[in-house]
Amino acid sequence: MSDLDAELDRAAAALRGATRVAVLTGAGVSAESGVPTFRASDGLWEGHRIEDVAHPTGWRRDPRLVWQFYHARRAKAAEVCPNPGHAALAKLEAKWADRFTLATQNVDGLHQRAGSQRVLELHGSLWRTRCTGCGEVAAIGAEPSAGIPPCPTCAAPLRPDIVWFGENLDPAVLGAAEEAAFACDVLIVAGTSAVVFPAAGLIPLAKGGGVKRPPGVVIECNLTPTDASRHADIGLYGPSGETLPRLCDRLGL
Ligand code: OAD
Repeated sequence: MSDLDAELDRAAAALRGATRVAVLTGAGVSAESGVPTFRASDGLWEGHRIEDVAHPTGWRRDPRLVWQFYHARRAKAAEVCPNPGHAALAKLEAKWADRFTLATQNVDGLHQRAGSQRVLELHGSLWRTRCTGCGEVAAIGAEPSAGIPPCPTCAAPLRPDIVWFGENLDPAVLGAAEEAAFACDVLIVAGTSAVVFPAAGLIPLAKGGGVKRPPGVVIECNLTPTDASRHADIGLYGPSGETLPRLCDRLGL
């Protein structure tokens, strides 16, 4: 039996005994769908500096460039499909229902397209805009668009409804994710380098910081160990599009 088989058995056993399950996902879960991850060695994000396209100063300097970047990301996200890892997480939600919480750092909407019903989008969504004037949040479709869209209500410039570096997460969304992480018996951490906070802070919360009895079991699903590994009890190292479906198989899902 390989190490991975043994870890899959342990993960399935932990899940069988779990009343509450929480999941934190990152870019790696969408990698097999063809969405690039973030931490490339050149420090650029699809050819752009992070501070130019994912920071309020970049927006103030050149909102047209920021929109060009997000229009292109949205177009790319519309072209790709959810992969078996997304589908496996939707199956887990169907089993645990309202005792299951999926929090994602991804903005691509692929969890929802795979059938996940209740997704906490910690970093916002490519599929929504937010008005810089009246604050209204609205859906934006997949049809090609260019330039800076105006708000249909107040005509102020719309911005992507994305949490940029230096900005706060929506407190209601973060609060719900923290509650779920603290209350869970099992936390699955999939496809994240676990270096961006406060999202990465959900992982030690699952352990209860010594307060919760018994502490949650943390299952890491990644290609390699990460900053999350020191909190992980079980490691499923391999592509999440393969390991998560194998975990579902063991649970008969
Ligand atoms: P990263 O790009 O930092 O990390 C991606 C992780 O996925 C790495 O640990 C990879 O090893 C792993 N990975 C890659 N392919 C995988 C696969 N097929 N199966 C399993 N794991 C795989 O992405 P995030 O951790 O999501 O924030 O980054 C967090 C945040 O930083 C993002 O949400 C974004 C970014 O800057 C904002 O935009 C605010």
